[in-house]
Amino acid sequence: MATDDNLRAAVAGESQANRKYAAFAQKAEEEGYAAVAKMFRAASEAEAIHALSEMRALGAIKTTAENLKAAIEGETYEFTSMYPGFIKEAEQEGNNAAKRAFNFANEAEKVHAMLYQKLLDDLESKPEVEYYLCTVCGNVVENSAPEKCQICGASAKAFKNVG
Ligand SMILES: [Fe+2]
Ligand SMILES: [Fe+2]
Repeated sequence: MATDDNLRAAVAGESQANRKYAAFAQKAEEEGYAAVAKMFRAASEAEAIHALSEMRALGAIKTTAENLKAAIEGETYEFTSMYPGFIKEAEQEGNNAAKRAFNFANEAEKVHAMLYQKLLDDLESKPEVEYYLCTVCGNVVENSAPEKCQICGASAKAFKNVG
């Protein structure tokens, strides 16, 4: 249906704007433009609100078990199909920055899928776990920051506890 397609397009656009404005806010901050940074941050959050209400209208948020399955599917597509192709093309074009970004994402998505699967496999046990995020590459590690990120090599202090 047209509206479902429109909702999917709107979610994609709003999500992209959310991240773009967050990055622009950070840059404005670094350059000393405090008011611009604040406005970018406000708009970034506004776009997230739009994306969320459009996702709700689309019925894209289901039960946690279903959401985990959807997440595993998305991550798996990325590391089995999307990123391997992207990495190859970046290599052929000699674009090292893109290759590095794709490679970090590709490796991190494998970990995300594995951790989602682990939660799904034992969903009702509601385990006590904490996650540490590598702020360089997006790797996620359970329970404590490793001495060294196994994806990007960053040290323990690059990891942030996300609860
Ligand atoms: Fe991921
Ligand atoms: Fe990392």
